[in-house]
Amino acid sequence: MGFTKVAAFAFGLMGLSQAYNLNVASSGSNSSSPLAYGVMFEDINHSGDGGIYAELIQNRAFQLPDPSTPEVAPWTAVGGAALAIDTTLPLSALPNSVKVTPSVKHGWVGLANPGWWGIDVQPQTYSGEFYIEGTYNGPIKAALVSSTTGQTFASTKIQVTSKTGNWTHVTYTLTSKKAAEDINNVLQLTFQSAQATDGSLHFNFISLFPPTYKNRANGMRIDLMEALAELSPSFNRIPGGNNIEGDLATDNFFNWSLTIGPQIDRPGRQGTWGYFNTEGLGLAEYLNWCVDLDMEPLLAVYDGHNLNGTVISEADLQPYIDDVLNELEYIMGDPTTTYWGAIRAQHGFPEGWNINYVEIGNEDYLSGGQPSYSAYRYQMFESAIKAQYPHIVTVSSDPSIIDAGQAGDYHIYSTPDEFVLTEFSHFDNVPSDTYYFAGEYATVQYNKPPFGSSTNWSAPLNSHPFWEGSIGESVFLIGTERNGDKVIGASYAPTLANNNSIQWGTDMIYFTADTSGTVRSTSHHTIKLLSGTRFTETLPVTSDTGFGPLYYVAGQNTDTGSSIAKMATYNATDDVPVALTFEGVAPGTKANLTWISAPGPFSYAYEGYDPVTTTTEIITSNSAGAFEFFLPNYVVAVLATEGTYGGYGVGANTNYAGFGGYSGCKGGKSIQSQVTSTGKLSGNGC
Ligand code: AHR
Repeated sequence: MGFTKVAAFAFGLMGLSQAYNLNVASSGSNSSSPLAYGVMFEDINHSGDGGIYAELIQNRAFQLPDPSTPEVAPWTAVGGAALAIDTTLPLSALPNSVKVTPSVKHGWVGLANPGWWGIDVQPQTYSGEFYIEGTYNGPIKAALVSSTTGQTFASTKIQVTSKTGNWTHVTYTLTSKKAAEDINNVLQLTFQSAQATDGSLHFNFISLFPPTYKNRANGMRIDLMEALAELSPSFNRIPGGNNIEGDLATDNFFNWSLTIGPQIDRPGRQGTWGYFNTEGLGLAEYLNWCVDLDMEPLLAVYDGHNLNGTVISEADLQPYIDDVLNELEYIMGDPTTTYWGAIRAQHGFPEGWNINYVEIGNEDYLSGGQPSYSAYRYQMFESAIKAQYPHIVTVSSDPSIIDAGQAGDYHIYSTPDEFVLTEFSHFDNVPSDTYYFAGEYATVQYNKPPFGSSTNWSAPLNSHPFWEGSIGESVFLIGTERNGDKVIGASYAPTLANNNSIQWGTDMIYFTADTSGTVRSTSHHTIKLLSGTRFTETLPVTSDTGFGPLYYVAGQNTDTGSSIAKMATYNATDDVPVALTFEGVAPGTKANLTWISAPGPFSYAYEGYDPVTTTTEIITSNSAGAFEFFLPNYVVAVLATEGTYGGYGVGANTNYAGFGGYSGCKGGKSIQSQVTSTGKLSGNGC
């Protein structure tokens, strides 16, 4: 039977004996705290600046490539002007500006910016701002102009009066009535040469935003947020990754207190991934992102270890611990009685946010971090956080050092075979009273030579996820979900990549400035399917056959009343016949069987091509109560019975897309359902 044929059919008693007979119990759950599928985000591949952070202007504050060696590029002069960096007129934390000197006596002169490898002009309203210094009394024109045709899509004139020695803040909007034919567009900012009576003007923080997700000021790109929302993510592990650690010295870690408040107060820093981070996407923006996608923040904090192997000594660590406590106070502190809570309120967030999970560092088992992490760093951070915030679950970035009741973050970048042969059972073999995030996982190389079945870190990573790899990851996720009592959540990494600046080849979603061209990889598809149907309980499954080529996990959703099985096939020589019963589910019950497939194991998505096909059909259990169907090789499938309370459990309850835990366990179990009031983890959940 081929992939395209209808896979489900009754094959009678003869068939049953040859099938994978799976029997799902109605009780005996190993977990009432099922796996949370989530997102891991750091600014890598220009996924933040030039990515999900919706700022359209590249080098808006003349900090690139580094504030100490700033360049005007990619700005260009318009209408006869010279552009030069000026380091003598700081604007709050932004040390550099551009000096624009007209070379003509009359006419519109100024500067233009091509965006982050393009600007997507759509029929919509853009919000702009800039700072100007110098004597000027006249109009300033902002316009979105095509570099391909010269056509102006949007234009506005703002009457500006500015003086020498003071920065004047100007805001404006630009409305385009039509879409540009391509992304080859610029923002032009021009002034009347004759009115610049001192002979030049300075500009800084020239910013332009399109409409953002949920209309947040300083917010996020809508299409990328929508692509993430499709994954029904429960948590967001922020803000890294290596990018919290800094690589060269202790001054380029993610220093949260320099990422808050007005944009001009944020100096930015050299990120870990080879480019400057403006940190316009700062702590508050990360947390609002979590709110907007209904995700629980898993907050990673700098813990005194840098990627070059620098470690803060035990004697010098306390200020860094205090800094994390201040960060938590900024996030959660009372706006009237706490110092940092009051500052947060001044920043426009009096209500604050909540943090239930803090990850101490990132991959502290690497780059010389392990000895000090296990000797004092993890413990010092953990006890200080717990002393003030007993409800917080601290997560060790080195999962090998955790004790009973503690949580660790497990990372695995691998090949399809390794995910299936080794990683499927990884969490079967960890102590039953320890807890994990699979905070970063991805297939990064093919099985076939020259790489072999394990990751070869000397060889390049794949430039895209591919179907066999996405199936391997799904087998891993199924293994992870079978251990929902131990595994809190799982997140693919990295999540986003701007095609114009890729430091890490294999990513889940690829994009450019063209919002219509965003590519959802094969792994995006598999996660979307597996995450979109949530158990409230994982249930025991008995089978007459071992795992492989069929891998499965089953459970139920007590809110929808749906019984659910998630399955993947890997390395099958023929279609796999399955006969599946759910204890207590009557003969004649309908179920929704959804499976996704691709033309071949190396199929991958690219702009304009999506290889993944989704097929859904309703099947009915036979007189013995079994759902009978074939699954072709290399598919991921979800079977969900018609729920007692409506729907089929497939996307039937949007509460399952979110964390739900803030309102208790009712209406959707969450990653929070494993947390007790003392921040200890418990497999029993609510
Ligand atoms: O996901 C890319 C990198 O891989 C992360 O920054 C780091 O944690 C891991 O090594």
